Amino acid sequence: MKKTVLVTGGAGFIGTNFVRLLTAKRPQWRVINLDKLTYAGNLKNVADISEGDSYRFVRGDICDSALLATLFRQEKIDTVVHFAAESHVDRSIAGPAAFIETNIIGTFTLLEAARRAWLDSDGTVAREKCCFLHVSTDEVYGSLGDSGLFTETTAYDPRSPYSASKASSDHLASSYFHTYGLPVRITNCSNNYGPFQFPEKLIPLIFNNAMHGRPLPIYGDGKNVRDWLYVVDHCEAIEQVLLSGENGESYNIGGNNEMQNIEVVTLVCDLLDDRVGLPDDGTPRRSLITHVTDRPGHDRRYAIDARKIGEKLNWRPKVTFAEGIAKTIDWYLDHRDWVDEIVSGDYQNYYRQMYNR
Ligand code: NAD
Ligand code: TYD
Repeated sequence: MKKTVLVTGGAGFIGTNFVRLLTAKRPQWRVINLDKLTYAGNLKNVADISEGDSYRFVRGDICDSALLATLFRQEKIDTVVHFAAESHVDRSIAGPAAFIETNIIGTFTLLEAARRAWLDSDGTVAREKCCFLHVSTDEVYGSLGDSGLFTETTAYDPRSPYSASKASSDHLASSYFHTYGLPVRITNCSNNYGPFQFPEKLIPLIFNNAMHGRPLPIYGDGKNVRDWLYVVDHCEAIEQVLLSGENGESYNIGGNNEMQNIEVVTLVCDLLDDRVGLPDDGTPRRSLITHVTDRPGHDRRYAIDARKIGEKLNWRPKVTFAEGIAKTIDWYLDHRDWVDEIVSGDYQNYYRQMYNR
């Protein structure tokens, strides 16, 4: 079964891992990677994938309806996997406008392009073979107390501009299924970690600061809980939803791996001490941990009930946190240049503004 897949945001963290997985595993498919290359997109992540029958990179904005119409027509796109988004909660607090633009207007523009190409089409693409997979987050469900898990029927209760914009895009995607019959599937995943994650997010930020002997900022008491999933497991879950999911359904994806932030950060420090040795002064890196002012509206706990995707699509995470975090730290150690290049640019201003308040 051949597919022509439009991947949006395929030069960001998860998109990169997904494009790399698909081009390696399914060379008979054609992947069109559409990415605006914002601060979070990095063409070097996918530079070693050769352009040709299986792969094409297009620099562009999902808010550009003319570009989308051309791509759908030219490439006869039959599948969309929509990652492109503004994705960092702290940035959404500092400046929500870009989140409204890309996450809401961008998703709407993409849904419209798919509707026009697939439902009003002259038959160049048979609608039965089409699929619009909208990639979303568990953050749309809000914050949990000490017990309970998010299921697919948990009421949406987003609490940051980021999660509110993602919730809005989920509702739009779902409405296109109910109203127009667009073949939409939605995934809501927990926190990912792994290669190519931008060092504004907790794990790579801690890696970078710890390697430079800088303070390791922990928001509040450090006891907020996230359910961490290795990024390749997430990508395989998405592939499974593409292959055998049902239109109009949403699937929660999680690692069954709840951890407090302080535990994650301590583990990263200890792994680094083990891999590269203690710093020159002989003090373990965990001593750099510094509690800083909490994030406003900081969600206390996220935890996913992933039974539906397990039972219906036979997907389960393969990589344990112990394996995944070790692989991740090794990847970052082997790719110091990748990190150094990012943190030498605009990142410096971002870090100063965000952390020196
Ligand atoms: P990311 O910030 O690393 O990458 C986003 C990518 O989208 C970048 O390459 C960027 O250049 C591109 N982009 C941004 N605006 C664009 C626009 N207007 N047009 C085209 N491209 C644009 O994000 P990520 O962490 O890889 O997340 C990908 C998706 O997965 C997002 O939709 C996010 O909400 C969702 N998600 C992320 C996580 C996580 O832990 N990172 C968990 C669950 C769901
Ligand atoms: P993050 O990686 O930003 O993901 P999200 O906010 O989407 O869960 O943060 C993960 C957790 O780590 C979250 O509870 C906030 C916390 N955190 C810190 O304590 N310090 C930091 O510098 C960052 C970036 C995050």
